[in-house]
Amino acid sequence: MSLTQLRDRGAPTSLPRVTADVLLQKKRAGQPITALTAYDFPTARLVDEAGIDLVLVGDSVGMAVLGYENTLPVTMEEMLHHTRAVSRGVRHALLVADMPYGSYQASIEDGIRNATRFMKEAGAQAVKLEGGHKHADLVARLTDAEIPVVGHIGLTPQSVHRMGGYRVQGRSAEAMDTLCADAVALEAAGAIAIVLEGIPRELASVITARSGVPTIGIGAGPDCDGQILVFHDLFNLTFSPAAKFSRQYADGAAFFSRAIEQYREDVAGRYFPNDAESYHLPRELQAREVRAERIESDAEEKHLCKA
Ligand code: KIV
Repeated sequence: MSLTQLRDRGAPTSLPRVTADVLLQKKRAGQPITALTAYDFPTARLVDEAGIDLVLVGDSVGMAVLGYENTLPVTMEEMLHHTRAVSRGVRHALLVADMPYGSYQASIEDGIRNATRFMKEAGAQAVKLEGGHKHADLVARLTDAEIPVVGHIGLTPQSVHRMGGYRVQGRSAEAMDTLCADAVALEAAGAIAIVLEGIPRELASVITARSGVPTIGIGAGPDCDGQILVFHDLFNLTFSPAAKFSRQYADGAAFFSRAIEQYREDVAGRYFPNDAESYHLPRELQAREVRAERIESDAEEKHLCKA
């Protein structure tokens, strides 16, 4: 980071802060909700300043940023660390933190304790957790504890081993019924929104039409109340083939690679830094530098004479 530039904390945004109620009003008005993940301060600022409604610090940080194979190893400490960084960059969007695997499965008490940490220690305004009716009691208790909850059903990445891989869910009549019941249970428990991931468009459309709270889709077709994607998918920064449901808006990998190669060539060829990119002494001290050189060579001479 430059020596001379202090970080601009950002101009105060004229946009009001997004709340659960704003998302609900958007659903009711038929205005799509925009959502995107972010994992650090610069991406949080970019996403927030682009006017995105909801920023999720997803446990996808495990793959996108930390290089894990799936989301299962992600810890509470890692999620808190990234949520804190994002919260320093978000002024407008609703900031939602993902509850990592193992932070709410063992007991309701675990879930409440860990969700509270996101609110108290990391600046989150809501938490997200995966699962439907089986976590409805936890959602209700968190809601009672003033912690807004976003549900997440369908293809739930923390269930990768139970699902036998990342497979589209809700493709049988029974699975459709279960997912509809999950959405109803989450809404009844007080969830402020429900992420629908990896389910057929037709099913997402039915759940959205029946739901009193906004649905936010990822791989669930265009009929949800909103859409969410992983930041790194938008910019080709995943080092793996893109999923059918995502759309690449820019080739960040090519952009960064070209710039890094150019930098390497400039340093190797002594084209960087140039004189204009260097600090200089005032004129009178430049002369003094010459004197200093003379003093050094005088000292050297004396040393040689003694020897
Ligand atoms: O972790 C994540 O990024 C998510 C979104 C894909 C919804 O859960």
